[in-house]
Amino acid sequence: MTIRKAVIPVAGWGTRFLPASKATPKEALPLIDRPVIQFAVEEAVAAGISEVILVTSRGKEAIERYFEPSPELEAFLEWKGDSARLEQIRALSSLASIRSVVQHEQLGLGHAVLTAKALVGDETFAVFLPDDIIDAPTPAIQQLLDVHQRTGGSVLAVLRVPREEISRYGIVGGEECGPRTYRVRRLVEKPKAADAPSDLAIIGRYVLSPKVFEALERAKPGAVGEIQLTDGIDGLLEEEEVYALEFEGELLDAGTPLGLLKASVRTALKRPDLAEEFGSWLREQVARLE
Ligand code: G1P
Repeated sequence: MTIRKAVIPVAGWGTRFLPASKATPKEALPLIDRPVIQFAVEEAVAAGISEVILVTSRGKEAIERYFEPSPELEAFLEWKGDSARLEQIRALSSLASIRSVVQHEQLGLGHAVLTAKALVGDETFAVFLPDDIIDAPTPAIQQLLDVHQRTGGSVLAVLRVPREEISRYGIVGGEECGPRTYRVRRLVEKPKAADAPSDLAIIGRYVLSPKVFEALERAKPGAVGEIQLTDGIDGLLEEEEVYALEFEGELLDAGTPLGLLKASVRTALKRPDLAEEFGSWLREQVARLE
């Protein structure tokens, strides 16, 4: 039951990052010195996934280029004798097999995943929403794959969120069936807090049965007029088991400028090459505020 394929939707406009995202895909914006997309691809690879399917749109070519070999840059680094960087650059193009499929119309996340149907075929696959970076000792997708191995069902990553944030997420309802694990009975995309089945919000990691494609083909536009992945998974419930796992790890939100700023600070404070100098500078900044 090895999972070989990951679908990573990167077709959105990234309006929250305008004007930067006018010419640079938001997934190519850096968290310090690594583009946001790299975290999802590396997490997939760490869990044994070898094929990445990017669902892209026009203007997102920089993401594909990032994972392609760059002979001129490699020759330059070799000439300079910068073997550390050379190794880093070479590793990028051999990380995984990366393919793309273009989503011509932006009809929602469910539609984006459906666009990858032919490339996924009839096998269980992972979905990563690259805005959600998860810093965890065991890669979050691996934690989900472990639940899939035990149950055979589809598995969603979830996190408890404060009431005022419920309407920003897909929310699941169900009963606890193991440590941090729930058997899902209902899914609602962006409900009002008063109508939500719980406070368990879907975070951007999924292990999905290929049956979800049929459910997505049946799905009608839902919240905000879009074909929602949440509704597709809800359509699976009649035929198959779906689980949710409260994963262990810290969620870093790279989907908004403020989130990316916070994620950058958290990451810098953990990086051995930056932590000390950045930490003392940050303490000075905080002292000025007080
Ligand atoms: C998407 C999903 C939603 C999920 C969220 C996690 O929403 O539709 O179910 O909770 O990602 O980040 P979006 O953030 O695209 O509005």
